[in-house]
Formats: sequence, structure tokens, C-alpha cells
Amino acid sequence: MLILGIETSCDETAASVVQDCVIQKSSVIASQAMEHRLYGGVVPELASRRHCENILAVTQQALTQANVTIQDIDGIAVTYTPGLIGALLVGVNFAKGLAFASGKPLIPVHHIMGHIAANYLAHPELKPPYLCLVVSGGHTMLVEVKDYTKFQILGTTRDDAAGECFDKCGRVLGFPYPAGVQIDHASKTGDSYKYSLPRPRVAGSALDCSFSGLKTAVINQVHHAEQIGEEIDRNAMSACLQRTIAEILTEKTELAAALTGYTTIAMAGGVSANSGLRSAMQEICQKHNYQLYVPPLELCGDNAAMIACQGSYNYLAGMTADESLNAYASGTAIGEMKV
Ligand code: KG4
Ligand code: ZN
Repeated sequence: MLILGIETSCDETAASVVQDCVIQKSSVIASQAMEHRLYGGVVPELASRRHCENILAVTQQALTQANVTIQDIDGIAVTYTPGLIGALLVGVNFAKGLAFASGKPLIPVHHIMGHIAANYLAHPELKPPYLCLVVSGGHTMLVEVKDYTKFQILGTTRDDAAGECFDKCGRVLGFPYPAGVQIDHASKTGDSYKYSLPRPRVAGSALDCSFSGLKTAVINQVHHAEQIGEEIDRNAMSACLQRTIAEILTEKTELAAALTGYTTIAMAGGVSANSGLRSAMQEICQKHNYQLYVPPLELCGDNAAMIACQGSYNYLAGMTADESLNAYASGTAIGEMKV
């Protein structure tokens, strides 16, 4: 079985061919990050326009690299939610046109389900059920992966995502977009105890978390230092922020594992590339003797191989769509099909 995956939810135009769910035959990513960097963040209209320009060439390249033609493909998987609506619409409409012209099934894929599936590409031995910490630019949640296409959210952020916290704090610290990876680098030479940062608590669900108070605390400390003419130690502030985010996330994961009894834990999403978070998760998993699965760096961020992988499982579960498929910026629960 060969599935073509298409991803355009944010600022990466990506296409990939995956064989038998987990074998990557090709993965092409055209990143727009350097262009958006000029503006300090993703400019939605620019993202849509670049997707428009690049999507055909990127898809052709993915087919060529996999040494197949569209006739060899069994289904066309596409990210339809969540993301920037104008960006998603480009991928969805392109996939619909391609499915119509080729007579192949159209397979809608939830972007977060795709991030989780990135783990199967790198670790085919990983099988549901297990617990997954999803940490991306727009989402932070603890998910019970009941089956390849069945998910339950156990806890989520009440406000900002961890990635957003990294990016916004990085911006006030003067790092270029996307700041998460810059904070990761700067942390390596910073004193992670130099500044005191809060670890916001949320009432209600013990597995929910919050990052907006932490973000505000960093921004306030940076502005305060500017006002009194002091120079903030960027590397130390980065290290303090990274340590605090890693502590919050590992504590929630530890609790979720204790409450559910899962001993297999995975990580997914762009922030799972963070070296501080990866080592903190390794530490708790070693302590409790949990099995930890983390995608390799190239599969943490947005790519289409993860969409083709999840699309393969959706296809096997009969989760296909007709030509009325739409894109949704948000509001579609993970695992819930809105087609
Ligand atoms: O999953 P992703 O590529 O896109 C979304 O679906 O949102 O995640 C992007 C997020 C950004 O916030 C980016 O700064 C963050 O992942 N990120 C990192 C690192 N690499 C990417 N955050 C912290 N440390 C990193 N090494
Ligand atoms: Zn993503």
C-alpha cells in the first residue's frame, strides 16, 4: 500500500510517499521559515501564497524520489485541520483535485494525529495503546492513544501552547523566528537557576497545564531589566525557561502515567525536538522504568511523512472523505472526523 501525504497547515509545504504505513519512500519539505523570519512570525497570507506556488513541484518531487507515479498510489492523505485556514485550504484543494483527476481515495488527516504517527515511522515496534505528550507550536496535550485512529485527551493547556511560550519569550529575548530552537541552543551555556520563574498551577484537572503566566513572567523580567538599564543574560533566561517548561511537562506526564498505568510513553510535535525536554523525559522514564519513544529531530517538526503514515491507518480504518471535504482552522477534536 502506497499513500501520498500532503501537509500545508503552517509554513512548510510538504509531500511524502509512505509504503505499508511506516516505510518512508520520500519526504520533501519546502520551508518558508526564512521568509517569515523577516516579520518575526508566520504571515498567514504569505504562507498560503507560497503553498500555492510550491505544492505541485513538491508533490512531483515526492513522487519522483519515491520512484512512483500517481497511478501507483492507493490514497491521497491531506492535513485538513488544525492550522492556518488559508494554508490548509491550499493543501486540501490540491489533494481534492488530485484525487478527482486520478480517481484515488481522499484521506483527511488531523495534524496532531499526524505528529503522533511520526513515532511509527521511526519506531515501527511502537503499538497502541500508550500515552503521548504532544507539544507543538499551537498544541500542548497529554493524549491516550487507544488505537491508531482512536485518541482521548487526558489533559491540555488552558491557554498558550509550550511552543508558543518558547516562541514569544524568544522574541522578546531578541532571537529570530522560530525562537524555540534558538532558546534550546542558548540554554546549553546558560545558568538554568539564575532567574526565578513561576510554575503556574491550574485548578480542576490535575493533568491540565498553563503557560501564559510563565510567558508573562519572562516578558516582564526582560522589560524590567530594559527599564532599569540592566542587560538580561539571554542564555541564562533561555535555560531557566527551558528547565521550567521541561519540569511542567514531565511532571504532568509522570502523573498521567501514574493515573492511567501506562508504561509506554511517546512524545510528538515540534517542541519534542527540545534537548532539555528530551533529557528530562528520559530521566523520568528511566526512574520509573517506562519505555520512551521520541521521534528523530527531522520528524518532530512539520512534515508530510507523518501525514502519509497516519493517512495509511485512517485509510485502513475506512476514514476517507468525498469531494466536499473542507478545511478547519480549529474546533475539530483529535480523532473526531469532521468531513
Ligand atoms: O509541530 P510544529 O513544527 O508546528 C506546529 O504544529 O505548531 O511545532 C513548531 C513549534 C514552534 O513553536 C517551534 O519554536 C518549536 O516547535 N520548536 C522548538 C524546538 N524546535 C522547534 N521548541 C523548543 N526547542 C526546540 N529545539
Ligand atoms: Zn505541527
